[in-house]
Amino acid sequence: MTTTAIINLDLPGPVISRHVYGHFAEHLGRCVYGGFWVGEDANVPNIRGLRADVVEALRALRIPNLRWPGGCFADTYHWRDGVGPRERRPRMVNSHWGDVVEDNSFGTHEFLDLCELLGAQPYVSANVGSGSVREMAEWVEYLTRADDSPMAALRREHGRDRPWRVPFWGIGNESWGCGGNMRAEQYASLARHYSTFVRDQCGNEVYRIAVGPSDGDYAWTETMMRSFDDLVANPAAPFQALSLHHYTMTGSWSDKGAATRFTEDEWYVALSRASRIEEYLTRHSTVMDRYDPHRKVGLVVDEWGTWWNVEPGTDPGFLYQQNTLRDALVAAVHFHAFHRHADRVVMANIAQTINVLQAMLLTDPDSGALVRTPTYHVFEMSTGHHDAASLEVHLRDVPAIESDGRELELVSVTASTTEDGALVSLANLDISASVEVVLDLRGPTARCRGARILTAASPASHNTPRTPSAVAPVAFDGVREHPRGLLVELPPHSYVTAELQLT
Ligand code: AHR
Repeated sequence: MTTTAIINLDLPGPVISRHVYGHFAEHLGRCVYGGFWVGEDANVPNIRGLRADVVEALRALRIPNLRWPGGCFADTYHWRDGVGPRERRPRMVNSHWGDVVEDNSFGTHEFLDLCELLGAQPYVSANVGSGSVREMAEWVEYLTRADDSPMAALRREHGRDRPWRVPFWGIGNESWGCGGNMRAEQYASLARHYSTFVRDQCGNEVYRIAVGPSDGDYAWTETMMRSFDDLVANPAAPFQALSLHHYTMTGSWSDKGAATRFTEDEWYVALSRASRIEEYLTRHSTVMDRYDPHRKVGLVVDEWGTWWNVEPGTDPGFLYQQNTLRDALVAAVHFHAFHRHADRVVMANIAQTINVLQAMLLTDPDSGALVRTPTYHVFEMSTGHHDAASLEVHLRDVPAIESDGRELELVSVTASTTEDGALVSLANLDISASVEVVLDLRGPTARCRGARILTAASPASHNTPRTPSAVAPVAFDGVREHPRGLLVELPPHSYVTAELQLT
């Protein structure tokens, strides 16, 4: 079967914010400690305690924003414990993740240093569950005030003269669950209250993200939108966006499925469940439209990705999992949905950057080796979509199967344009069959400047310290001229990006 993708190259749609390619680093397992942070005295080369090879690898992804310190951890975190001389910082118990003792050696200054090294904008997830309004307000003051306010003076005492720019503020996390088990009405009132004290100061404009729903909890979205209906049109509205969380697994929360040993059926179930993001975005957005028809309130998908059973022999509380070509295609399915909803989805954060859940990088605790995962590569191949104008793609004759009680289309195509170029990304979700895609390109003349492919012999292929490039992008020669534009021959389980020159 030949699939056709009609793309009007001269009809740019809403801009795909680079922030939908955001990341997430929680104090969880070996994400912060042993991932980003090794300390200044470590044997592994580091920049002020931050792993140098990690920083270098992530800079290639042009990470637009980094969310920290949680997740569930955020609603147990008291920022004052993580500033000042490290040897004097108090300890705490990380009750959500492994019940381990946290020494707070990675705190506010270390996080902001990391963001500066990565060139990423900070997204601070602040404590509503066990914190106070004052604590949150003082954190904003500490980070962003330039004058001699009490918190700015404290920051200077701790070695940082200039304030930081911290645009993104999360008002709690999963308040319907680990963030306090609240009812929607209860949290909505608290969100209005807390957000009021997260203020613009000294030229730092804050973008406040209130806790939104998980998956298809439309009632939560409805309550949140209704709760500040009187304020949506007000420029001083207490929050500018709602979050949405969606995790992909093939089983249930008690047995989520294995990361690398999966059947053909589980391959499709994972992709089918990942593709539910399309329905969630559409339906939450429809609920929001009733209160906010001009789409001023954003959706921030600040946790998404695969969640598998932990690798055998690792701490169940540390959420360490391997990452295959299947994970890379799960990521592609999300990117394509974010692009289609560029007018509502302003930001997203994959969970999580290193050694936790669907990571970009894995570090070997024994040898210290650093491995780039297939998901890393799909992010890197997609950097051309950052801040580009979305292009609508109309697909015809798409092969589809039934999986997990739903129809799963096996070909996904997205496209964006900047100045005289366009980037087309194509995913073939079929585990064993190749597919031909005709790119029916309307408008300017398009020539393929180059293409790359991410695939491997086995759909379960993954990278390890011994085989770090089992799944890595290579140049692709399967894009040819066609009377309608271009013809792409997509091998099974593959992801292709084609750069077009427009004249
Ligand atoms: O990403 C892991 C956890 O998943 C986060 O801490 C929490 O917000 C979610 O339940």
